[in-house]
Amino acid sequence: MRRRSFLAGNWKMFKELDEAKEFVLEFLPLVSQVRERQMALAVPFTSLSLVAELAKDSQLIVGAQNCHWDNEGAFTGEISCSMIKTCGASMVLIGHSERRQYFGDTDQIVSRKLAIALYYGLLPIVCLGENLAERESGLAFEVLSRQIKTSLEGLTAADAPKIVLAYEPVWAIGTGRTATDQQAQEAHSYLRARLTDMVGSEAAVQVRILYGGSVKPDNVASLMSQPDIDGVLVGGASLSPQSFAKIVNYLPI
Ligand code: 13P
Repeated sequence: MRRRSFLAGNWKMFKELDEAKEFVLEFLPLVSQVRERQMALAVPFTSLSLVAELAKDSQLIVGAQNCHWDNEGAFTGEISCSMIKTCGASMVLIGHSERRQYFGDTDQIVSRKLAIALYYGLLPIVCLGENLAERESGLAFEVLSRQIKTSLEGLTAADAPKIVLAYEPVWAIGTGRTATDQQAQEAHSYLRARLTDMVGSEAAVQVRILYGGSVKPDNVASLMSQPDIDGVLVGGASLSPQSFAKIVNYLPI
């Protein structure tokens, strides 16, 4: 099964409005030849409308980095999927490890956010991954199994192809310590097997699984050469238009 490559950036809490605008104006011409691949950027809420507007005639998919699990209500400081949609965005990151680590996002919360993102027709990128202690004590797969089971609880075979998964080992995020191609492939193939248990193989083979954690222009091609790595989720290297464009335009090996 050939899955369409998905190259996504996550700006995290970087870039004010002017910087976001400058980035998009520089970036879009650098990727104007992209056809087969999909590319996306998850930007801060404050830049969502602006970036979505600037990107509307391009191939760039624009998304948020988080959402609330409800449509509206007394949730001071929160943003709903319907609000994200009205900004012109079409994607949302869910359960990023920084949300899990600092803001209490649990697998149960992730599953509620996933349900509402699907309800509103946003493309959800569900993030998971083990931390260093879990990897070193040989628990990585156990953790992944628990995370995927609960985070995707209730996901139907019909909806599965509408989601993207991102495997982001916490020990590789922002550390410069990328998982090896083999480590990433092993985790991706494990996740696809669990997905198969949950929704069946016909749906599971259609789900794109991204790798995230210190992806750079010089390691993207070898990661992408792995059979179960369908894309990347890039933090630091997505902050410069040149380096993110190099990642999007990588030459397959
Ligand atoms: P880095 O690419 O900076 O390691 O961040 C990865 C990440 O968390 C993307 O969501």
